Amino acid sequence: MKIAILYDSKFGNTKKIAEFLATEGRTAGHETQLFRTTKTKASAINTFQPEAIMVGGPTHFGKPTSTLIKYVKKLGKIEHSSTIRKAAVFNCYTGEEVTKAMKGQISDSLPNIELLDQVFPVLTGDQTGDNWNKIFLPPNWKGDAKSFLSAFLNFLSH
Ligand SMILES: Cc1cc2nc3c(=O)[nH]c(=O)nc-3n(C[C@H](O)[C@H](O)[C@H](O)COP(=O)(O)O)c2cc1C
Repeated sequence: MKIAILYDSKFGNTKKIAEFLATEGRTAGHETQLFRTTKTKASAINTFQPEAIMVGGPTHFGKPTSTLIKYVKKLGKIEHSSTIRKAAVFNCYTGEEVTKAMKGQISDSLPNIELLDQVFPVLTGDQTGDNWNKIFLPPNWKGDAKSFLSAFLNFLSH
């Protein structure tokens, strides 16, 4: 199955997770492709024509980043983005996880998409406030990412 992994990332935490999900998805026999909001146009996703999409990004000022929101809105305006049937969301944050808002944005822009209930919020940083602009993923992130991906792949097979 074709899976697009769409992500936004300023400091690299979400990027690392997105890349890991892409590699693991490929290992599981799927065709995965990464789309970074600041590097690839939403129309590129349309060209890829994925059946499923994983959407990730950091929390900025208590919300998903405006770049990610705009990108999802654009995707909704593209005619053939209707190839996407299912989606799941992941989020890097230091205080407020915003997976609910991410899901809400996807549902608003792409109303025919079915969303996986399970989300993948990743608490980054050591909570001292000193590491908010560095890659600071929790020790178990790879195991958690694998569980999240496996739940999504299971969701796709039904
Ligand atoms: C401008 C800015 C605003 C942020 N605001 C929040 C916030 O309101 N709540 C929160 O939990 N984390 C906030 N963060 C922290 C990021 O969500 C967190 O560091 C995340 O891991 C960054 O992901 P990235 O490395 O993919 O960019 C903010 C970071 C930046 C740069």
